[in-house]
Parts: sequence; C-alpha cells; structure tokens
Amino acid sequence: MNAYPNYHVPRLGNQNAAYIVAALTEYKQAKRSHKTMQAQAWSLTKQDMEDIAAWISSLKGEINKTERFPEETLAKGKKIVEAVCHGCHGLDGQGINETYPKLAGQFSDYMIKALQDYQSGERQNPIMASFAKPLSEEDIDSVAAYYASLKENALTDLHIK
Ligand code: HEC
Repeated sequence: MNAYPNYHVPRLGNQNAAYIVAALTEYKQAKRSHKTMQAQAWSLTKQDMEDIAAWISSLKGEINKTERFPEETLAKGKKIVEAVCHGCHGLDGQGINETYPKLAGQFSDYMIKALQDYQSGERQNPIMASFAKPLSEEDIDSVAAYYASLKENALTDLHIK
C-alpha cells in the first residue's frame, strides 16, 4: 500500500541523474526508510534506475511556483549555505556534480523533513548526518527557505503529458 506523507513529495524533474540512481539504490538497500519508496524500488534493476534517472533529469524548464519567504529568513539561510553547504550543494543549489542532489526550487517542507531525518538517523547518510547535526530548528527553516526560493535551473514538477 502506498503511504502519502504530510509534507510535499519532492520535486524530481531536472534532478541530477546520478543522485537519483543513488537514492533509488539506497531505498532498495533500505538505507532510506520510506516504506512506499522501498516497495517501489526493490524490484528495479540498475538499468531500470538509470533509465528512470535519465528521463527525470531531462525534464527541464517547466515553470513552477517557487515559495515565498521573509527576507530575513532568506538572508540567514544564505549565510549558513555560504558557510557550510555550498561546497557540495552550491550557492546556486545545483550540486557540484551529478552525484549531489539539486536543491534549487525544492519544496521547503521536504527539505526540513530530510534534515530532521538526517539528525535523527531516520535517514542514514554519514555525510549529511554530520552537517545536519549542528543545525538548530531555525537554521533548518532558513536553509530550506533559501534553497526553495532559487529559480535558476530549478527542480520542476513532473507533468506527464
Ligand atoms: C560534503 C558534502 C555536503 C555538504 C557540505 C552538505 N551536503 Fe547536503 N547532501 C550531500 C549528499 C551527498 C546528499 C545525498 C545524501 C543522501 O542520499 O541521503 C545530501 C542531501 C541533502 C538533502 C536531501 C536532498 C534530497 O533530495 O532528498 C538536503 C535537504 C541537504 N543535503 C541539505 C544540506 C544543507 C542545508 C547543508 C548545509 C547545512 C548541506 N546539505 C551540506 C552532501 C553534502
């Protein structure tokens, strides 16, 4: 049975392909614990994952509604990103290479949930655990707002035509 969450399902259109393959592999290996995603991913072969990832990452240029946030929140978020996150996710939220998730235009509530899950260990990733741990609740809200607000080459909604 599919369980639908009380936060947004992440935007995936235009996501970096190698990251999608890595994420699906983690669901398959149960390192990421979402029950629905584990059920969907377990039967996929590596080739299936690569095909899905190539398609998803090709979905560029759809216009989505980016969320709006107070200027102070965005400024605080930008400061933390400049100090901590930019080395991997970029100040522009693109990811420094294909293996890092693009965050530009992602839903803020999805990113907040992801960061909380890295803190709690619900989502296991040694790199992100160490960067998420020191963040306060306000820090998390601010960085999520900052990345969600970026419009340039942003993530898009999957509109299947
Ligand atoms: C050393 C590199 C590195 C740094 C620095 C880093 N990240 Fe990450 N981040 C990653 C990797 C790799 C992943 C994918 C991990 C996974 O598969 O769960 C990730 C995943 C994420 C995700 C989940 C994305 C998704 O689509 O599910 C969010 C949100 C995130 N990072 C935010 C941040 C924020 C905010 C900071 C700064 C406080 C930060 N990261 C610093 C490497 C980094």
